Amino acid sequence: MSKTKSLFRCQGCGYVSLKWLGRCPECGEWNTLVEEVEVFTERESTSSFPPKSITSIFSAQKDLLSSGIIEFDRVLGGGIVPGSLVLLGGEPGIGKSTLLLQVGHAISQANLVTLIISGEESASQIRMRADRIGALSDNLLLYCETNLEKIIEEVEKTNPSLVVVDSIQTIYHPELSSAPGSVGQVRECAGYLLRLAKSRNIPIFLIGHVTKEGVIAGPRVLEHVVDTVLYFEGDSNHSYRIIRSVKNRYGSTNEIGVFEMRENGLKEATNPSSFFLSLRKKNVSGSTVTPVIEGTRPFLIEVQALVNFSFLPTPRRLALGLDYNRLLLVLAVLERRAGLKLFNQDIYVSVAGGVRVDEPAVDLAVALSVFSAFKDKEIPSDLVAFGEIGLSGEVRPVPLLDFRLKEAEKLGFSRVIMPKYDKIAQKELKIEQVENVKEAFNLLK
Ligand code: TYD
Ligand code: MG
Repeated sequence: MSKTKSLFRCQGCGYVSLKWLGRCPECGEWNTLVEEVEVFTERESTSSFPPKSITSIFSAQKDLLSSGIIEFDRVLGGGIVPGSLVLLGGEPGIGKSTLLLQVGHAISQANLVTLIISGEESASQIRMRADRIGALSDNLLLYCETNLEKIIEEVEKTNPSLVVVDSIQTIYHPELSSAPGSVGQVRECAGYLLRLAKSRNIPIFLIGHVTKEGVIAGPRVLEHVVDTVLYFEGDSNHSYRIIRSVKNRYGSTNEIGVFEMRENGLKEATNPSSFFLSLRKKNVSGSTVTPVIEGTRPFLIEVQALVNFSFLPTPRRLALGLDYNRLLLVLAVLERRAGLKLFNQDIYVSVAGGVRVDEPAVDLAVALSVFSAFKDKEIPSDLVAFGEIGLSGEVRPVPLLDFRLKEAEKLGFSRVIMPKYDKIAQKELKIEQVENVKEAFNLLK
């Protein structure tokens, strides 16, 4: 049996103290001492087998457990890996508990036991949510507990196929004097759950709250402990939600999953383009559709611009869902290289639907929307445009051309304004290749 003791370690230099200190005497930094549990156990060898050929080692990849939700499996790298510790972070109210309840339900439908540990909500609150989304199953077990030792005991006793901890900030280790949710508690508890996941080969999902500033002791301090870090994002004013992986020991971090929050839970948006374009008005000025890529997934979004005469000494520029500095760059190019007199105009550019795009490939769509809004010229509704804009006004190729064209074709678009490429496989679309922004504007005349 191991004996435990708590101590305080400086996060900067590693100095250890038996009591908490505001300032580390070693490196002089303030507020860097964090409580930890020190476990005294006999030293064991970490490697349990002598060196052997990599081909003879069992690969967990074959044994993936499907979450029953394609969008979620994709982000995880194909499914849930047994023995993995996965962190699901996101702002409060975004839908983390709902998503993992749906996953737990899907797993329990396959006759496997899911144990949901809740430190946030009462069993009856969870039952109400389960009623709402139809997640009722005898194999879905709820356990409302925040004491880590009891949780571990229960997991060892029940031996479920999946464990969900909602949330890691509410769980505490009784040996630590710091409050639940503090850096020390969160990290220690995650460490214990990691060992539990590995030793029992049970996948464990941890829910972690992040605030708008991302400051509280939560997902950030855990990122290096867990195997996979997923972030659930979205705008509380819009119903779409995106799940993104920022770290994945079992797959690519490029994948995203798109969901829609409905009355009865999260619904997969297998065709995100049609979702983001659903409210688009056709044949209006200042609106351009563009194919963007998230990971390896193309989808179409609408870039809207509004240009208005400014009565301010410094005209206003606003970018919603886009990088502000890139907008300024595109505007400077339009002014200098295409002769648009924008210096006395207020300019607002927004990506419809509340989604955020950071790809330079949207530059051309931004330029066309601003041009169209400024000249009050309609952009044909069957047109998509993409391309990166350089400082001399040139339109540059962007990667994954085929994906973008295929998505545009699939959604019924017929015309594309894009940079020059050597080889284009696509035959169905009317493709217009341009070298600079001026050429692109001339195509609209
Ligand atoms: P929740 O999963 O509790 O969020 P989190 O665990 O991330 O804090 O979901 C919160 C929001 O989702 C809540 O404001 C209501 C909304 N919601 C729906 O719109 N439909 C539903 O079916 C459910 C269960 C929740
Ligand atoms: Mg919750």
